[in-house]
Amino acid sequence: KDESTVSITVVGASGDLAKKKIFPALFALYYEGCLPKHFTIFGYARSKMTDAELRNMVSKTLACRIDKRENCGEKIDQFLKRCFYHSGQYDSQENFAELDKKLKEHEVMGVWVSTLTEWIIPFRLSDKNITFDYWSQMDTALLLSEDIPSKGGRVSNRLFYLSIPPNIFIDAVKCTSSSASSGIGWTRVIVEKPFGRDSDSSAALTKALKQYLEEDQIFRIDHYLGKELVENLSVLRFSNLIFEPLWSRQYIRNVQLIFSEDFGTEGRGGYFDNYGILRDIMQNHLLQILALFAMETPVSLDAEDIRNEKVKVLRSMRPLQLEDVVVGQYKSHTKGGVTYPAYIDDNTVPKGSLTPTFAAAALFIDNARWDGVPFLMKAGKALHKKRAEIRVQFRHVPGNLYNQNFETDLDQATNELIIRVQPDEAIDLKINNKVPGLGMRLDHSNLNLHYAARYSKEIPDAYERLLLDAIEGERRLFIRSDELDAAWALFTPVLKELEEKNIIPEYYPYGSRGPVGAHYLAARYNVRWGDLG
Ligand code: BG6
Repeated sequence: KDESTVSITVVGASGDLAKKKIFPALFALYYEGCLPKHFTIFGYARSKMTDAELRNMVSKTLACRIDKRENCGEKIDQFLKRCFYHSGQYDSQENFAELDKKLKEHEVMGVWVSTLTEWIIPFRLSDKNITFDYWSQMDTALLLSEDIPSKGGRVSNRLFYLSIPPNIFIDAVKCTSSSASSGIGWTRVIVEKPFGRDSDSSAALTKALKQYLEEDQIFRIDHYLGKELVENLSVLRFSNLIFEPLWSRQYIRNVQLIFSEDFGTEGRGGYFDNYGILRDIMQNHLLQILALFAMETPVSLDAEDIRNEKVKVLRSMRPLQLEDVVVGQYKSHTKGGVTYPAYIDDNTVPKGSLTPTFAAAALFIDNARWDGVPFLMKAGKALHKKRAEIRVQFRHVPGNLYNQNFETDLDQATNELIIRVQPDEAIDLKINNKVPGLGMRLDHSNLNLHYAARYSKEIPDAYERLLLDAIEGERRLFIRSDELDAAWALFTPVLKELEEKNIIPEYYPYGSRGPVGAHYLAARYNVRWGDLG
């Protein structure tokens, strides 16, 4: 029976990510019975808030796949009782020491309280007469806690989720590790991107982090790795005989990694302008997918074995060249009487900003498996559709007997595997098929696995998977520092060049398919984007 406690502190608790993703994911995990028995959640931020106000905030923003289920209300109440708040500065050792004290109180009493609240009496933490302040006066209990591990007793583990802007990041890590880390259990820190802006700043961040934490305490999150279809990539490749033998330059013509959103940077222009789409989406989310897609078979499913293979493939890649990049920025567009704003209309974006909100790029892996195969990436905001997908276009069938029997000759006999990460998760395989009838006509048909039709189970949000993994100490889906270095090495030179040369982006209307330059880039490598239909 595990009597250890886990305290999860969301640093930056009043921010957007915490409200939209972290608290809802924690609740979903709680609902599904995935959180450890003795857990406490703390929100930490600068704003002044009481526990009750935090609970109110969390309950209002609790929009997740679970919160509309029947009987959910009771679970929400129980969950909220485990949520507390501490207000403090991100660079104050003193404030973190106060947090530490509160965490200790909960760790000591948590086991009793969680038992009481759930099983014995409807013990209301919010009742005025019995609060944690009451327990906190029990110094003896605190003393006891120090004695517990030596008796083989309860271990208190702490997970900190740093959801704060990069400029205060290191200060917060320093305070966490020196004033609030667990003395008698593990301390882990989840860090959100951006992990720097280029190779140098990322290396400096890693160096600073490692002053306070060991690499195995750092969980660099890339939430795309927690998406169901991204996690499934390895299963598809390594547990099906039919794919892996085809997974190379011999059979694959090109691979496309496509990300698009049908909304702009609304409200996030200030952050976004500092980074742009290449850093916001390509260097991390799409590159991570590419690494999983292209890596060699790992020795095992252990985190280190998988990450070793990912690093190898990233290190085999050629740094992105300026001529292999097209950048764009959305401009205002009126449709159906509605005017959609341009990127630069956002008043948090500096006037005349050249920051790309769209990019297309061609990348190459110089190893035996992938030599010469273009990996095309395309990512953009304010496009016509929201989607994320991987498209694998296979080579033509040599000497195809049926070349004459296609309705059109465009891309005839080309198989395509489409892994739709979102929305409507699916795996489609385009095959050539005889159109039923007395004639001999062929068309492209789909073998499809549509998750909504095949599985009745809801797909967990990426943050649920990743938070659970961090609690369980599973590092497979988190980024190791050498992976990060390799990823930056590929993008830093071109980012510098784009900025130094003030390359003007190609303007595209809000809600369109993006700049036409993306098609010219693909055409240079004899590729046609697969998402045109
Ligand atoms: C984030 C980016 O990492 O991912 C955002 O900073 C982007 O700009 C978001 O909107 C997309 O995530 P998802 O899960 O909604 O596809």
